[in-house]
Amino acid sequence: MSGFAPEWLALREGADHRSINHAVRRHLLAYLNEEANVHIADLGCGTGSNLRSLAPEITARQLWLLVDHDETLLQLAATMTTDVAAAYQIEVRAHKADLSSGDITEIAAHSDLITASALFDLVSPDMITSIVNQIADAGIAFYTVLTYDGVASWLPEDDLNGTMRDAFNLHQQTDKGFGNAAGPDATSLLAKAFAERGYNILRGKSPWILDHNLATLRQETDRGWAAAVVETGAVTKAQADVWIKSREADDTAITIIGHEDFLALPPT
Ligand SMILES: C[S@@+](CC[C@H](N)C(=O)[O-])C[C@H]1O[C@@H](n2cnc3c(N)ncnc32)[C@H](O)[C@@H]1O
Repeated sequence: MSGFAPEWLALREGADHRSINHAVRRHLLAYLNEEANVHIADLGCGTGSNLRSLAPEITARQLWLLVDHDETLLQLAATMTTDVAAAYQIEVRAHKADLSSGDITEIAAHSDLITASALFDLVSPDMITSIVNQIADAGIAFYTVLTYDGVASWLPEDDLNGTMRDAFNLHQQTDKGFGNAAGPDATSLLAKAFAERGYNILRGKSPWILDHNLATLRQETDRGWAAAVVETGAVTKAQADVWIKSREADDTAITIIGHEDFLALPPT
């Protein structure tokens, strides 16, 4: 299942929403809810999961711009946000754009908040710096959730687990469409770049803990992980197959994938 397939995004949505770091989110809400109206742009919106999670908690009147380069996902986002939009009187616009140039100047100029979910680990370090500077030039806020942080662990213990994690972290730094990706360094790079612009920073962990209650997501995550690490050459296909087979045979297996949420508020 591809990392951007609608089926994969649907499978992960419940775990994503449950993993949100609410300490970080509370600070965002306190900031936004001082306003009567907020314009929010969601970069790499997929089917609109970030809106479905965040919008119901915002009391200000909202206008969301959902941005993605994938026409199919954008169409799904339009239909899959209709109910929330009606319930909370939110205006939602879909905007097809390829963000690989890193140019978000126009989007930032019309937004109070730039947000993203499960995106910034895919972005290159240079593009992170550029995006931060465009946001800071516009003087607006930034909030991103579920950025992979390089911490992954599996139960039961297996001699291969550490190698699987290290190989995946290398894979995370290959090109995902935005140049060689920052991968697990993304949140620290965001924090450094925003701090240099005088922003107030807040970080908080938002791991997935995938046990028997989320068995399908756990198994798909393990399979995707195994396929990625084989591509690095650090793990052979035979090793990955044995690892997967033993995890699939074990109903008590647990997969923990580390993420981080991040908020940057403009200097007052
Ligand atoms: C891992 S998915 C996350 C989707 C969604 N934010 C969520 O949390 O469910 C990454 C998203 O980034 C989008 N994306 C990837 N490359 C892009 C690009 N060059 N321009 C715009 N969107 C892009 C994909 O289409 C996909 O929707």
